[in-house]
Amino acid sequence: MRLTLEVWRQADAASPGRFERYEVDGVTEEVSMLELLDMLNAQLVAEGREAVAFDHDCREGICGTCGLMVNGQPHGPQDFTPACLQRVRTFSDGDVVTLEPWRAGAFPVVRDLVVDRSSLDRIIASGGYISTATNAAPEALTMPVNKHQAEAAMDHAACIGCGACVAACPNGAAQLFTGAKVAHLAELPQGQVERYERVRSMVATMESEFGSCTNYGECVPACPAAIGLDVISHLNRDFRKAVVVERRGEVPERTDVPWLARLRGGPWWQSDPGDAGEHTER
Ligand code: SF4
Ligand code: FES
Repeated sequence: MRLTLEVWRQADAASPGRFERYEVDGVTEEVSMLELLDMLNAQLVAEGREAVAFDHDCREGICGTCGLMVNGQPHGPQDFTPACLQRVRTFSDGDVVTLEPWRAGAFPVVRDLVVDRSSLDRIIASGGYISTATNAAPEALTMPVNKHQAEAAMDHAACIGCGACVAACPNGAAQLFTGAKVAHLAELPQGQVERYERVRSMVATMESEFGSCTNYGECVPACPAAIGLDVISHLNRDFRKAVVVERRGEVPERTDVPWLARLRGGPWWQSDPGDAGEHTER
């Protein structure tokens, strides 16, 4: 099969980018999206031209580094599949395939198809640590975990941090990613000690670097790990409780985030079902 590739070329974040057209021949249907780029690069290098930069590491759907837009779809046309595992079998001989980097304000282009996703790392870093006993592994029975919660935690932990949810969102919001990370630890006993400080910090970092969620829901079909919208509800619920907990003085007030102070004084925190009848006055 012969494919025509329209590939975004850009020297760095400050330089203007453009699409360049290449022909790749001899593509078989087992070839993955990244192998297609390998084939293109082998051809470019043989011609003495500059190879296309793209991100990848594990090439088996684990690390989350391989994100790119394929014909306007995050990762490509196959559902629940990162770019490294997408096969070109959905294309036909003579098709034109457009390859672009993630488009989001929080992900500046480093080069060609590579973007800087360290803004996601900063959300994780702001979550801090968990307090737990270390050294020898404890007996499993000393910390029983409800089966449903254990399975939910595993489902949320499936997020590979690729950033497709941000790239798919018209607002460039990171609620699906942050929700998955918050919900994953909030389901487990080990995540309880710093639960509300963690969500407060992660949301503050998220809001400072990304757009805000307005429930488009574009993130869910883009996600290769099948993370569901329920994690955003979980995130909002825990964040609301975090402001109530702060209001009660159970965690120190954060004075470095002005909008948190405004929320603390608002009426919405009183509507939490777990706080009915409590704390109706400042
Ligand atoms: S939630 Fe899904 S799309 Fe977003 S970073 Fe995690 S795996 Fe990628
Ligand atoms: S290269 Fe690791 S998930 Fe694709």
